[in-house]
Amino acid sequence: MPRKGYRGVDYDIDYDDWEDYEDDYFEENGSTGFSTKVLGSTKEKVVIKKASSKPAIWSCSICTFDNDESMIVCEICGVVRVTLGDLSNGMKVADGSTFSKAPSSISTEKENFVKPSTKKLKNPSISLPKDGQPSADERDYPSIKEEKPQDITSGFNKVSMSSEAGCSNNGVNYKKVNLNSQYKPETWMVPDREGTPTQLNLAVVGHVDSGKSTLSGRLLNLLGKISKKEMHKYEKESKIMGKSSFAYAWAMDESAEERERGVTMNVAVAYFDSKKYHVVLLDSPGHKDFVPNMISGATQADAAILVIDASIGAFEAGIDPNGGQTREHAQLIRSFGVDQVIVAINKMDVVGYSKDRFDSIVLQLGTFLRSCGFKDTLLSWVPLSAMENQNLVKAVSDVRLSSWYQGSYLLDAVDSLRPPIRDISTPLLLPVCDVIKSHSLGPVAVSGKLESGALRCGSKVLVMPSGDIAIVRSLERGSQPCTVARAGDNVAVGLQGIDVSNVVAGGVLCHPSFPVAVSTHLELKILTLDLTMPILIGSQVEFHIHHAKEAGRVVKILSVFDQKTGKVSKKAPRCLTAKQSALIEVVLHGPVCVKAFSDCRGLGRAFLRASGKTIAVGIVSQILE
Ligand code: GTP
Ligand code: MG
Repeated sequence: MPRKGYRGVDYDIDYDDWEDYEDDYFEENGSTGFSTKVLGSTKEKVVIKKASSKPAIWSCSICTFDNDESMIVCEICGVVRVTLGDLSNGMKVADGSTFSKAPSSISTEKENFVKPSTKKLKNPSISLPKDGQPSADERDYPSIKEEKPQDITSGFNKVSMSSEAGCSNNGVNYKKVNLNSQYKPETWMVPDREGTPTQLNLAVVGHVDSGKSTLSGRLLNLLGKISKKEMHKYEKESKIMGKSSFAYAWAMDESAEERERGVTMNVAVAYFDSKKYHVVLLDSPGHKDFVPNMISGATQADAAILVIDASIGAFEAGIDPNGGQTREHAQLIRSFGVDQVIVAINKMDVVGYSKDRFDSIVLQLGTFLRSCGFKDTLLSWVPLSAMENQNLVKAVSDVRLSSWYQGSYLLDAVDSLRPPIRDISTPLLLPVCDVIKSHSLGPVAVSGKLESGALRCGSKVLVMPSGDIAIVRSLERGSQPCTVARAGDNVAVGLQGIDVSNVVAGGVLCHPSFPVAVSTHLELKILTLDLTMPILIGSQVEFHIHHAKEAGRVVKILSVFDQKTGKVSKKAPRCLTAKQSALIEVVLHGPVCVKAFSDCRGLGRAFLRASGKTIAVGIVSQILE
């Protein structure tokens, strides 16, 4: 999909003074286990992590809820932080750290809210098993070994690059794996300009037909990102096709098939500026068939707009446990680490802007969102109508709504979101969302969000899994050329010195001395969702991690944890049912670029799907190969 609507300024070169905002989110104390430091800019903030000896909270690795230090299981999802039995195993814990001998010595990692820009994001291909035979990997599974406690960079020690993964040397010895602690950010990486607007990657998610694309298109239109001429064209063409109600959605749904079906299939990306943010809008597909595409796009999100259709029956279908995408999307974005959500209750015109309907949706959905681990304080509820332009970029004008609602309008709610934290203290990791063709970027270009580190024109990058070295030829952020991109930025990168066949969606650009692992055998800590079929040893799953997906098989169920005590309640159970927290091993049919969650959250969050439904969310606790 071509980048739409926005041709903003390059804020590396030319930026305005942005209104200062309060930022109590960045703390300067030991309570989170890390001290934070504002470098250079009041807008783009960089966190330099330092382990603290006594964290007061720990963040659950599954739902990222901040639990009190005294809790040994996550208050929200029941995932285990530490168990006495596990201590001897040297297992990693739910807060992303590793066991040492006593819970008090567990280090806590503060959540790094850094997440993604582009076009229609293509769906990375899935490779399926060629035969039903187990591979050598599947026949010989290592069990959890007795090992010394590891520090946060231990994942690098475990992983050696295999030549079978198709890595070439190209003058760089990336088999020599370095520890993150050996990495020192260079001075150019530190943001140095005050007033640069923070990029905010905002996913628009929700049940099919709730009005996500219409809302996105309307917003861009109101903010002047779609010209009158373009809008007129959409109106005219959609009318000819008998789909005039989709005119605004056509700004996002560009392909002939999407327009004909009236359904978004790939994530559309557009840009606009609010008072505080340079917003990258990721309009996700709501149809259940395209959840994998939604995962690939929305996994980059810093925050989300969850669009709800207020119409009678439509809201109810969205939260139905059997196939409601409001439900599935909410669970997914929570497991992506998104904790700030604007719930846009759309189509209020259809229910006559009824307060009762709004209240009833807030009540029912609020209960569900809390059960997913969202905190009330980080949710905002905005009644609106995308079609009738009520409550989007200015206060309500329809008296049926203004008589009972005086809260924020949508754009205001966007500006009220906390800014994401930028982490440049660890080496470059840029999961490739899409391999793109672009006149301005050259014949080989990729798009994606920097999970960590920084890039600039002329930087050498290691392209995984091919192992080739490439040079950054050009960079674009929000469709505008720029010279530097930092963690959290969603960029398009033109590469030179590499053949396009060696760059794939689902791959990762990394620092040449700090390669990402490439593996087919992983240990995962998972939380099962609403399962209709139990997960068994041998169950075939679709494994998703950042922008990669791969067919795989559950080869071991190591243990199930008791949700209340957090202790292993059963070792080696035969199957897993709904809402269980467990440690499993999966073997994939093809290698994926991966990091242990403790090393990089964005590259260590995994999702298992089967029969068109997400069956479990989890984290990579160990890379076993
Ligand atoms: P998918 O991407 O396929 O999940 O759909 P979507 O959520 O993007 O919905 P889309 O924007 O395509 O809109 C679906 C239908 O809802 C269209 O017919 C829109 O005109 C209609 N619609 C969207 N917003 C509103 C609204 O505020 N009021 C009314 N009455 N209809 C709306
Ligand atoms: Mg849509």
